[in-house]
Order: sequence, then structure tokens, then C-alpha cells
Amino acid sequence: MNLREKCPMIYFDDLGDERGKLVVIEGGQTIPFEVKRVFYIYDSDGTVIRGQHANRKSEFVLINVAGKSKVRITDGKEEIFVELNRPMTGVYIPKMIWKDMYDFSKDSILLVLASTHYDGAEYIRNYEEYLKEVES
Ligand code: TYD
Repeated sequence: MNLREKCPMIYFDDLGDERGKLVVIEGGQTIPFEVKRVFYIYDSDGTVIRGQHANRKSEFVLINVAGKSKVRITDGKEEIFVELNRPMTGVYIPKMIWKDMYDFSKDSILLVLASTHYDGAEYIRNYEEYLKEVES
């Protein structure tokens, strides 16, 4: 499986009507894990790089519910780039994948759904350490 297949884009249905749009995300159904944690990142801009980590235990889905941002994703061998720019589209990031989020528009609200409760100890924030762990 290549990296693009490991980290697919997920296209949510638009249940909108003349009153507006509605997107539903159901844990274990529209995304491949049960959601234990939700957080969102806003007030970032084009000058910062966020993320810069891999997670030993967590899976994520990232969705720009407003504005846009980019994600650089690598498994230490391949590298892909994803642009998140619509509330109906997300990207799935499995465990042990390195990600950087950047190029946030001023109005960006990046919603992140996670499969775990927060545990800082499962984050790998050093790229050399990540390469060692992912290769072993
Ligand atoms: P960080 O992981 O650096 O954010 P990002 O991946 O978006 O760059 O998190 C920033 C701070 O917030 C850090 O001190 C850890 C804390 N934090 C939590 O306490 N719980 C969480 O669920 C997350 C994602 C972060």
C-alpha cells in the first residue's frame, strides 16, 4: 500500500438543502475509528508549521471546516501533500505517520478528530527518533 492509499482523502456527503449544508461524521462508519477526542486549530497563519510529529497510538482525520491549510505527510520513505480547503473533505492519518500542517489561511479552522484521549507520551516529536522507530 502506498502512502496515498494509507492516508486517503475522505469525502463526506453533503446533506444540505435550501436551508444550508450539513456534514455528518460518524465514528467507525464515515471514518475508520471511534472518535475519542476533538480539537481544532485556528488563528494560525502562513508563517507557522504545526504538527511536526508522529503518533504511536493515535489515528486522526483532519478537516478544514473553514478556510484552508496544507498537510505534508511522510512515512519516512514517501512524501505526499494534501490541501484541505472544504468542509466536506478530510484526510485520514493512521498511526506512526509524520505530519506537518502549514500555509493556514487567516480564516482557517482545522478540525481534528482523534481515536485516543490525549497522551503526550505517545507523540514522537523528533524526526530522527521517528525514523528509527518506524524502520524497526
Ligand atoms: P501540539 O501537539 O504542539 O499541536 P499541533 O500538533 O497542532 O502543532 O499541541 C499544542 C499544545 O497543546 C501542547 O502543549 C499539547 C497540548 N495539547 C493537549 O493538551 N491536548 C491535545 O489533545 C492536543 C492536540 C494538544
